[in-house]
Amino acid sequence: MTTQSTHTLFKPLPGVQGAAATNVAIWFNDQPLSVPGGCSVAAALLAAGVSRFRATPVSGAPRGPFCMMGACFECLVEIDGMPSRQACMVEVKAGMRIRSQEGARDLPPFGASAATDAPLENAHDR
Ligand code: FES
Repeated sequence: MTTQSTHTLFKPLPGVQGAAATNVAIWFNDQPLSVPGGCSVAAALLAAGVSRFRATPVSGAPRGPFCMMGACFECLVEIDGMPSRQACMVEVKAGMRIRSQEGARDLPPFGASAATDAPLENAHDR
């Protein structure tokens, strides 16, 4: 289930993104969205009114971005088939297929590795 609305609390500050921010088309849970480009997946989804990014493995409680800087892991989503991506650490790109992460993550697709196909986030350069 996607929590979306036409109204959002999250809007760019005037002058921060200016006219340079052009929208890109993405998919979230099989729903087409037009979101601001040039920002993180988390910021783009929040700007589009998405507030539920995942559900906890134990209770299924809804979760969404909290820190927006790679520390809390509340923003985990599946991006282009790769689970447990930190939405706040990945730049949104046109055509991305993003899914909310329900409960415990699945294993990465067979043959995928961080070194070749999809680099894992390295929020703190460790
Ligand atoms: S919002 Fe905290 S890690 Fe992404």
